[in-house]
Amino acid sequence: MRMALYSPGLGYYANDLRKFGLMPGGKAGDVASAGSDFVTAPELSSHFGQALARQIAEAFQATGTSEVWEFGAGSGALAEQVLQALPQVTRYTIVDVSGSLRARQQQRLSGFGIKVHWANALPEHIRGVVIGNEVLDAMPVKLLVRVNGVWHERGVALHEGAFAYADQPTDLRPPVEVAGGHDYVTEIHQEAEGFIRTLADKLQAGAIVMIDYGFPEHEYYHPQRSMGTVVCHRAHQVDGDALADVGYKDITAHVNFTGIALAGQEAGLQVLGYTGQGRFLLNCGVLQGMEDAPLADRAMVQKLINEQEMGELFKIMAFGAKNTPTWQPMGFAAGDRTHTL
Ligand SMILES: C[S@@+](CC[C@H](N)C(=O)[O-])C[C@H]1O[C@@H](n2cnc3c(N)ncnc32)[C@H](O)[C@@H]1O
Repeated sequence: MRMALYSPGLGYYANDLRKFGLMPGGKAGDVASAGSDFVTAPELSSHFGQALARQIAEAFQATGTSEVWEFGAGSGALAEQVLQALPQVTRYTIVDVSGSLRARQQQRLSGFGIKVHWANALPEHIRGVVIGNEVLDAMPVKLLVRVNGVWHERGVALHEGAFAYADQPTDLRPPVEVAGGHDYVTEIHQEAEGFIRTLADKLQAGAIVMIDYGFPEHEYYHPQRSMGTVVCHRAHQVDGDALADVGYKDITAHVNFTGIALAGQEAGLQVLGYTGQGRFLLNCGVLQGMEDAPLADRAMVQKLINEQEMGELFKIMAFGAKNTPTWQPMGFAAGDRTHTL
């Protein structure tokens, strides 16, 4: 998954193909407009970034910080929305493992001048609000497969000139036992959990707000979810064949939010809240001023909060820095579901 997504020049996030956008269509052969593969919340509506900005403003107040650190900034849409809404941001730093997206972000954010920075490596300490939309799901997972009651790690081999899965017995296990003896495919998220631990070490003051699709571990490792959650996205279509057209499609796995919460907590972070995206955005006032908004805008906000669309599958998890006073973020004021993790 790492090679398919991030190999320099070849990986999906390391090549110049367009990824984010509202529509799959576009002029063939024209890289700049050759269609997109998926749409994310900030691409769908600027109201997403405006609502998140209210949460960031409150976090600034509560933690005495004024910087934003965004991981995996994509086309720069969310950065633009947050910077427009929050003139008080003193510095906005983007960290993305994809070098190819940086040029696009720089062009889009040039109007904000020297406030916006790009970091190649993480600094010793971070003071500020760290955000990431759909970043955890893009971090490589390990595939575990139970066959005839024996757990294997699933790797990729070359077989007669083509990629093929190859399984080897392993001591690795899902974090909870999967009931039943049936064959079962799933994932573990060592990289995403390691990422949260790294952030915990570096965050001196401030908060972390991560947005992504996923569930708590009792849902993630449910006996009936026997095919795992890895899927590919290309031209707004979803498929399960990660070994075909490698580098031309996104590969993602859902997030185990229990694992993320535990990784943060064990590294000293405080879990400040966990809830569905719809609930979070409503708590952050996403409907404020919508009465007079054009119908098309309202339809997009509806997609963000509707339970059948992005409102329920997507979750928000927030952490506070270790050894700092705790506080109650507005996004979880009603409907906090931390107890379900
Ligand atoms: C699905 S895209 C989301 C882009 C954007 N946040 C949005 O919502 O449109 C995932 C992004 O996360 C980046 N990414 C993955 N792992 C990362 C890491 N460890 N640090 C920073 N960025 C990372 C990828 O390069 C990619 O730009």
